[in-house]
Amino acid sequence: MSNALEIGYRHIDTAEMYGNEKEVAEAVRASGLARGDIFVTSKLNNSFHEPEAVRAAFDTTLSELGFDYVDLFLIHWPLPTLYDGDFVSTWRTLEEFHRDGRARSIGVSNFQIEHLEKLAAETDTVPAVNQIEVHPYFANDAVRGYGQEHQIATEAWSPIAQGKVLDDSTIMQIADRVGKTPAQVVLRWHIQRNDICFRSR
Ligand SMILES: NC(=O)c1ccc[n+]([C@@H]2O[C@H](COP(=O)([O-])OP(=O)(O)OC[C@H]3O[C@@H](n4cnc5c(N)ncnc54)[C@H](OP(=O)(O)O)[C@@H]3O)[C@@H](O)[C@H]2O)c1
Repeated sequence: MSNALEIGYRHIDTAEMYGNEKEVAEAVRASGLARGDIFVTSKLNNSFHEPEAVRAAFDTTLSELGFDYVDLFLIHWPLPTLYDGDFVSTWRTLEEFHRDGRARSIGVSNFQIEHLEKLAAETDTVPAVNQIEVHPYFANDAVRGYGQEHQIATEAWSPIAQGKVLDDSTIMQIADRVGKTPAQVVLRWHIQRNDICFRSR
């Protein structure tokens, strides 16, 4: 993380589930960068979907980070089989954090079209982002298309397919032709599709 900040990374994606919020914040503080120069995303873990648990989990996230706000807070998974599938009240609780300014923006992750339609029908705030799996082996175009139609930015997780694209012969040929690495070629593919992407290093 410190190396990433040193070479210019400014967008950090963490989550309660990853157990590294504290270390992320320590690296940000050690970098000497101003808080306002870094974009920090964190996510609500799966066992905290009921409103009181959401509030407690968000307090813990801010306290682990030692920040008074996050730039983006996501519901990590929609979980239609837990808590009676009531991710709508979970979302309404995230709206509180947006209103009080502790989450500059709020969004979701791993939501399918039916989950997004339910939020659209029953709540007032459109998610800023849907963070979903997208890479050349899984284009995920239906969910991306819904996002484009409804002003929900798609953020691609595992953008280089956990490294699998790096020795793909077609991608290697393109990389040779344009004088870039396979990882750079695939990140450009995401950018040209208007998706936000990030890598683990
Ligand atoms: N919302 C969700 O449910 C969800 C799910 C999965 C991931 N994510 C987020 O997405 C981020 C990225 O996804 P990801 O880590 O699964 O997949 P990824 O970024 O597609 O791939 C990461 C893997 O590729 C390797 N790698 C990266 N650049 C490389 C290069 N230039 N040459 C060789 N190997 C390279 C990494 O190796 P090293 O380990 O050696 O660096 C790592 O094993 C995660 O950090 C996480 O924040 C979110």
